[in-house]
Parts: sequence; structure tokens; C-alpha cells
Amino acid sequence: NEIKIFCPATIANVSCGFDVLGLALESVGDEMVVRKTRGKGIRITKLEGQDLPMETLDNVAGVAGLALLSEVDYDGGFEIEIYKKIKAGSGIGSSAASSAGAVWAMNELLGKPLSSLELVKFAMEGERLASGVAHADNVAPALYGGFTLIRSYDPLDIIPIHTPKELFATVVHPQIEVKTSDSRKILKTNISLVDGIKQWGNLGGLIAGLFTEDYNLIGRSLVDHIVEPIRSILIPGFETIKSEAIKAGALGCGISGSGPSIFALSKGEDKANQVAGAMRKVYQKIGVDYDVHVSKVN
Ligand code: HSE
Repeated sequence: NEIKIFCPATIANVSCGFDVLGLALESVGDEMVVRKTRGKGIRITKLEGQDLPMETLDNVAGVAGLALLSEVDYDGGFEIEIYKKIKAGSGIGSSAASSAGAVWAMNELLGKPLSSLELVKFAMEGERLASGVAHADNVAPALYGGFTLIRSYDPLDIIPIHTPKELFATVVHPQIEVKTSDSRKILKTNISLVDGIKQWGNLGGLIAGLFTEDYNLIGRSLVDHIVEPIRSILIPGFETIKSEAIKAGALGCGISGSGPSIFALSKGEDKANQVAGAMRKVYQKIGVDYDVHVSKVN
């Protein structure tokens, strides 16, 4: 009647896949305890680590959970305890970890009546509350693990993508908060055909590189001509961090989700640690407070 789970942090977009591609981190994330109650509805009974609303309708886990409850045949309710390690507004899927975690745990406690695809739909309601848009590129990898492609939103079609064994992510978080809703408002709603051609070439290349474990192709494809030039303006030292990460041996580097975190992908953990060192040096030199994580992609 009770379950304790790990809710992974996720990197959305992964450079060329705005709103359609995301990956899950194996060792960065929150914890959550979910238990069945006789009383109906959802209650958030504990929320540690971040200053976030506990009112069910204002909490992403609460809203995602209610969406699930409205579709299942179950008389009772749930209590949720959330232990946040992921900072809100850091760009590594804080809201997604809570939304996806809540619905995943509830489904387990109910004997798994729902598919992963259905769980993504409910978790997306949490994302709608957090950012104004029900994007799935954080909740899908949080629920499926590894790399996940949203081939289509309507109808929702999610494709798990092969994740090469030696792929590690380095994520550096300059200590500022960027709300996804704000960093979406500054984007243009139209793109040119020229930019489209570059972007879908890279997205196709990245997916092919992941399936064939061609690290060089993965690196060549980690390019974003559309969103990064606009959003990177909000991120201190972005261009320097990126060039130092590449110099240190990263395959590629870009904005994690809607930022301000910056991610790099590397082949092997040692390389990912060297990249972390290079990123640290940049922020120490220009005096930006930061934290940095290295994790396997899984
Ligand atoms: N695809 C979303 C965005 C992810 O970039 O706005 C937010 O984490």
C-alpha cells in the first residue's frame, strides 16, 4: 500500500529536438513516497527540499495524480511525500520528475492498469500547470527511461530510442531560475525553411547515431539552429562553457530543456568528469555560482 520511488531528472530538447526529444539521467533525481488512502483525492503531505505549493491543485504531482484518478476505477485516494533534490526552474525537469513520479507510483499501487503512454498523458497535465504547455519531452523519458522521441502529440506517439551504453551527461546549473513559461515566450513561432532543413537533418542524424552507437555522428548532430541562439542570451557564460566543454572532449553541448542548465554529452564517465572540470573552471573564473552533475544516460 506504499511505495518509495526515485524520480529521474531529464534533459529535454537535446539540442536539435525541441519539444520532441528527451533523455533521463540515471543518478540525478528526487524521491517520492506514495501511499493509498481510504479517503478520496490526492493530498501532498510532505514537500522537502524546495519551496513549492502543497495544495493539490497547485502542485504538479497533485494535478497529474487527479488526472489519473479521474480515469481509473478506484474508490480511494493517495497521499504523496516529495523529497526534492532537483531545483525548480533549473532546466532538468523538476516538475516532470514530480508529475511522472506520482502517476508511475499510483499505477504500481493499483496493480498497473495503465500503459506508459497513458501515464505520459496524465503527467503532461502537471507540465501544463508548470509551464502553460503540456509538453512531453521531460515526462516521457522520466517514465520510459533513456532517450525518448515524441513522434507526434496528436495522437500522442512515443518512441523509445536506443541509448548507447557509454553515454554520460554533464549538467552545470548556474544558480539562477528561469521559468519555462518565460523562456517559451521569447521564442519565435515561425521558422525558416533553411533552418528547418538543418534541424531535421540533425535530428535524424542524432537518432541514427543513437541506434548505431556512432558517437561521432551523435556529436555532429548535437546542433540547434532554432532555439539555442535565442535562449542562450539568458544563460551566463553560455558560449564559453560550450567551447570549453567541446575542447575537453564532449561530443556536444547545449541548453538543457528551457535552461539555465547547460548539458554536454560524452563517451565514457571519465570524459564526462573532465568536461565537468572544464565547466567548473569557467564559472569560477567569471564568478558565477553553480552546481554540476555527472550521470549516465539511462
Ligand atoms: N521542450 C521544453 C522547452 C522543455 O524547451 O520549453 C522544458 O523543460
